[in-house]
Amino acid sequence: MWLWLLVLLGLWLLWRWHRERQTVPGLDEKFVLITGCDSGFGNVLARQLDARGLRVLAGCLTEPGAAQLRAAASSRLQTVLLDVTSSSSIAAAAAWVQERVGERGLWGLVNNAGIAAPAAPNEWLSKDDFVAVLNVNLVGLIEVTLSLLPLVKRARGRVVNVASVMGRLAFFGGGYCPSKFGVEAFSDSLRLEMRHFGVKVSIIEPGYFKTAITNSPIVEKSFISIWERLPDETRASYGENYLQEFLAAMRAMQKKCNPNLSLVTDCMEHALTSCHPRYRYAAGWDAKLLYIPLSYLPSALSDTILSWSYPKPAQSA
Ligand SMILES: *[C@@H]1O[C@H](CO)[C@@H](O)[C@H](O)[C@H]1NC(C)=O
Repeated sequence: MWLWLLVLLGLWLLWRWHRERQTVPGLDEKFVLITGCDSGFGNVLARQLDARGLRVLAGCLTEPGAAQLRAAASSRLQTVLLDVTSSSSIAAAAAWVQERVGERGLWGLVNNAGIAAPAAPNEWLSKDDFVAVLNVNLVGLIEVTLSLLPLVKRARGRVVNVASVMGRLAFFGGGYCPSKFGVEAFSDSLRLEMRHFGVKVSIIEPGYFKTAITNSPIVEKSFISIWERLPDETRASYGENYLQEFLAAMRAMQKKCNPNLSLVTDCMEHALTSCHPRYRYAAGWDAKLLYIPLSYLPSALSDTILSWSYPKPAQSA
């Protein structure tokens, strides 16, 4: 009985492996727009797809970021300045893309641009702190998608949205986790709607990787400045020790971040080039073995496990 199950599992894995390695033809004629190409996953993916022969349209927030990317890529790769929080910037970029792709349409849209700071315990933050992150990670992603969807439909192409394991499990405050839960929800409904048009929607769920989001001194600086602006009563309730332990945990986490960004960009490339892309890609061992399994546990159990690594405030009940 067990043997048969193992054989069946083996056959299924073999079948899936075979199915997933079938690649769509004519990649060198296909245009892909990627947002957030100044650094991190977007930057690596842009160069990776360029090397594979696709026609990369790279959205960058800054001109120096765009110039650096152009210098590191072939002459096929083109850049466009794109601030996903600005409707006029998105409209201009969409018109620019339309000009380039014409009747062929846009094969791939990779919504990658994202920020994490300000991140801190929810009580420490203001509405504007939440809005700042939601505007980039969620509202920006939605507006970019809505603006380019007609072109993606024309190509019967792909939308690849970068969520996070934090879109499945939330254990720190601020706009980041809500934004990523929002990306999951938006992508799920979009995928259902788009299947009738032959457009495939994939969600990427990276664990902790070494990017500007996790490894910038800005995160720590903004964290400390948030602490310093807190009312005395709030600060006393958490205590100086809480701040120090939180910072120590943050630094320990940064050390453990996976530096190999290609684990994530390989998933994105698969979503864009395979005949049978997956709905979801968990990238990194921590995502696969820790965070995604944790997210399936009953909340009472996952809370207990997660609170082991949390500092205790000074005035705990
Ligand atoms: C990074 O991951 C890829 C798999 O996506 C692997 O081929 C490569 O060897 C890894 N690089 C390092 C430095 O571990």
